[in-house]
Amino acid sequence: MKKYAVIFAAVFVAVSALSAFAAAEDPIGACIYKYDDTFMTNVRRAMLAEAERAGQDLDVVDSQNRQPLQNDQVDTHISKGVKALIINPVDRTAAEPIMQKAKAEGLPIVFMNREPYAEVMAAYDKIWYVGAKAEESGTQSGQIIADYFKAHPEADKNGDGKIQYIMIRGEQGHQDATLRTEYSMKAMKDAGFEIVELGSDTANWDKVQATDKMKGFISAVGIDNIEAVLANNDDMALGAIEALKAEGYNMGDPKKYIPVVGVDATAPALEAMSKGEMLGTVLNDADNQGIAAVKIAYLAADEQPITDETLGYHVTDGKYVWIPYRPVTAENYREFMK
Ligand code: GAL
Ligand code: CA
Repeated sequence: MKKYAVIFAAVFVAVSALSAFAAAEDPIGACIYKYDDTFMTNVRRAMLAEAERAGQDLDVVDSQNRQPLQNDQVDTHISKGVKALIINPVDRTAAEPIMQKAKAEGLPIVFMNREPYAEVMAAYDKIWYVGAKAEESGTQSGQIIADYFKAHPEADKNGDGKIQYIMIRGEQGHQDATLRTEYSMKAMKDAGFEIVELGSDTANWDKVQATDKMKGFISAVGIDNIEAVLANNDDMALGAIEALKAEGYNMGDPKKYIPVVGVDATAPALEAMSKGEMLGTVLNDADNQGIAAVKIAYLAADEQPITDETLGYHVTDGKYVWIPYRPVTAENYREFMK
């Protein structure tokens, strides 16, 4: 009797282990260019939350800002049998060989945040891109500065009718850095201002690097001559603000204030806005970018069409999902605080 009970228990354990195995779906394999990035961390959280909501297994890894490591991680995902890939490339020009790996396996692949070149997007039918139109964020951040100058004539400290500004750029070669820079300048000009660049440099999306660069600009041109700071993201805007605060600026004295704008609407940026240290930002919608990427991955793995109806997001040319940016100012920033 006892013997039968043991056998029965063993068979039961084996059968339930097998059925659990059969029920477990293949995962979606994802790579994030580096975990040490505020905005991409928010995107990753949204991806994990959506996977959990949809009952999907999502295996995400940190590519540590190293493209060769990411290429290996893609191979590992494929050899583990993932049903789809979501890739935030370290280097957007590396999207092509990664696309080829997916294509060779017939795996759906979703790129995000770093846009592959159009030729790469055209070379495979199971490829998608989820991102945001960087032009929009550039325009909106330039408009926030222009609106401020219109409402506050005293912001034109030297009274020459022109905006003397510092530009702190994101990573070289990143579409968001190039286009935000270009379109924020264009927006100030379109609003009727002449603009004078006192300094422009990259700080690679990084707060500490931005503080260093801003300190350099302050000593090179003199803080009294700087009328505005435009940064391609919030971490760099906050880094620049650290440098301003070290000079006693942006700490409550209205005579010692330089308007600073960023992009992303991260929690620390919204916090800085609530304290009056930062003028404005632009929502880079991490939640919807993360959700859309994960949804495409599991729908495509299930051989469902990717359309406005199936996805719940507008799909352009069958392959692109553009999540809109939104200006964030003193009037509406509270809406974005979580
Ligand atoms: C941008 C974002 C930056 C940084 C970058 C990484 O869209 O504004 O903060 O996360 O992506 O590729
Ligand atoms: Ca001026």
